[in-house]
Amino acid sequence: MKKRIAVLTGAGVSAESGLGTYRDNGGLWDNYDPMVVASAEGWARNPGLVLDFYNMQREKLKEVQPNTAHRLIAELEKDYVVDVITQNVDNLHERAGSTHVVHLHGEATKIRPENSCNDYDGFSEKLVVDIGYGAVHLGDKAPNGAQYRPHIVFFGEAVPMIERAVELVSQADIVLIVGTSLQVYPAAGLYRYARAGAPIYLIDPADVALFDKRVHHIQKVATEGMQEFVGLLK
Ligand code: OAD
Repeated sequence: MKKRIAVLTGAGVSAESGLGTYRDNGGLWDNYDPMVVASAEGWARNPGLVLDFYNMQREKLKEVQPNTAHRLIAELEKDYVVDVITQNVDNLHERAGSTHVVHLHGEATKIRPENSCNDYDGFSEKLVVDIGYGAVHLGDKAPNGAQYRPHIVFFGEAVPMIERAVELVSQADIVLIVGTSLQVYPAAGLYRYARAGAPIYLIDPADVALFDKRVHHIQKVATEGMQEFVGLLK
């Protein structure tokens, strides 16, 4: 029986691929107001701006490649059952070869009709459309007549995948956190579901405060930290 690793990732795992993080100096939220471009309220007020913002995010994905950290996470599948639970909306884990990826905050390459989701039922997978790196504009409508919106969990919306993520973390023998400031809930609280005795590793160059004595902080960038982590598993 292979052991299970739950890998919780944030923007830091993709930083060395050239995608900016959100809250570091010069990060995305220094230049854009998340309440305007990534919130339920922003969508209701000015959907055109939100669509443009995610058209731009999709465009950036065309230019970047998975880095060594994404690849080392994918390679863990040789010896472990690996569940990647990412806050990222990019597709770099999949492109590096990870086969079980849960996107807590949605996926930039996908869209769905704006009337397809409520906080109680979540969204229907059947209505989600993969548009790759294409653009969406106001007036682009789904077969049901509704405006298409990004398949993103906006601020102010529920996180439909959180229950699945809690289940996966609580089943893991090892929990690994890579490159997240752990400021956005409920994702930030997920590691607390690690079962008693399961070691927790954190890879992040910053002083991320985690109040759990089990956490072993590898204070390095993702590519270097992943090499150290793989060495520790041997
Ligand atoms: P943040 O920008 O909040 O945090 C990025 C983390 O990555 C920080 O702790 C950095 O220290 C770390 N970091 C920077 N460079 C790194 C590197 N080379 N290697 C490893 N770590 C590095 O990003 P998230 O925590 O992912 O949500 O943000 C969470 C959510 O907030 C995002 O999913 C997004 C955002 O608003 C939505 O848009 C819904």
